[in-house]
Amino acid sequence: MTTLVLGATSRIAQQIAQRYAESGDKVFVAARDVEEAERIAADLAVRHQVKALAGRFDALATDDHSGLIDHVEAELGPVTTAILAFGDMGDQDRSQESFADAKRVIDVNYTGAVSICEALAAKMTSRGAGTIVGVGSVAGDRGRKSNYIYGSAKGAFGLYLQGLRNRLHSEGVHVMTAKLGFVDTRMTYGMATKIPVASPEAASAAIFEAARRRVDVLYYPSFWRAIMGVIKGIPEKAFKRLSL
Ligand SMILES: NC(=O)c1ccc[n+]([C@@H]2O[C@H](COP(=O)([O-])OP(=O)(O)OC[C@H]3O[C@@H](n4cnc5c(N)ncnc54)[C@H](OP(=O)(O)O)[C@@H]3O)[C@@H](O)[C@H]2O)c1
Repeated sequence: MTTLVLGATSRIAQQIAQRYAESGDKVFVAARDVEEAERIAADLAVRHQVKALAGRFDALATDDHSGLIDHVEAELGPVTTAILAFGDMGDQDRSQESFADAKRVIDVNYTGAVSICEALAAKMTSRGAGTIVGVGSVAGDRGRKSNYIYGSAKGAFGLYLQGLRNRLHSEGVHVMTAKLGFVDTRMTYGMATKIPVASPEAASAAIFEAARRRVDVLYYPSFWRAIMGVIKGIPEKAFKRLSL
């Protein structure tokens, strides 16, 4: 079995890679920072005695995406599980000032994610097997003034995954959406919140287990499903007056 981890420098991604390697999978870790990805792969290989390789993945370089999958499969065999762990939260204020900033956030979280998923779907449907895990965000469940550029890109990604899951179900390929709440990583460093923050270890364990059980939509931590249920239920007339 071969697992491909995209956005491998994320702490959540690294922990997920550890879990798949621990289970005996060959692992390919792909990231913008190839040197760091190579360090991560070397660590996986030593720690778990599995074949682990690294390569370059940039969500914005969509022309390279199917070539990357061809390369991974030539080196490690058919990809059985692919984890899309990359993301760019950007900065809402900067995105309002500069469309270039907003466009990058949209392109990393949505366009780039769709591009690599389509390339993966083509391979997996030809074999009638595979699992694609898209790491989304509760931010994609409702547009809020504090992060609606990132939120809308993650929301669009969530809708895309829903459609892909619907399309690939009859082809033997499973698609899971992991909607994360706050996790203690580089992305949330310095953010103040009264809501409990999960560890990357716990988030990765939940994603790994849910993917094995072929869950469709995972909220982690699970209390976010209820929180977002309430938030989504607030009428727009009242919601637009709130500061969230
Ligand atoms: N932390 C949270 O509270 C939280 C909540 C909801 C969802 N998420 C999602 O969880 C996933 C992992 O994020 P994280 O929290 O671990 O944050 P992180 O450490 O900032 O990880 C983000 C990852 O995305 C990669 N990335 C950014 N732009 C990219 C691009 N153009 N091409 C390829 N990779 C790119 C980063 O690579 P570099 O190292 O090269 O920058 C890094 O590996 C993301 O999808 C994020 O949206 C996180």
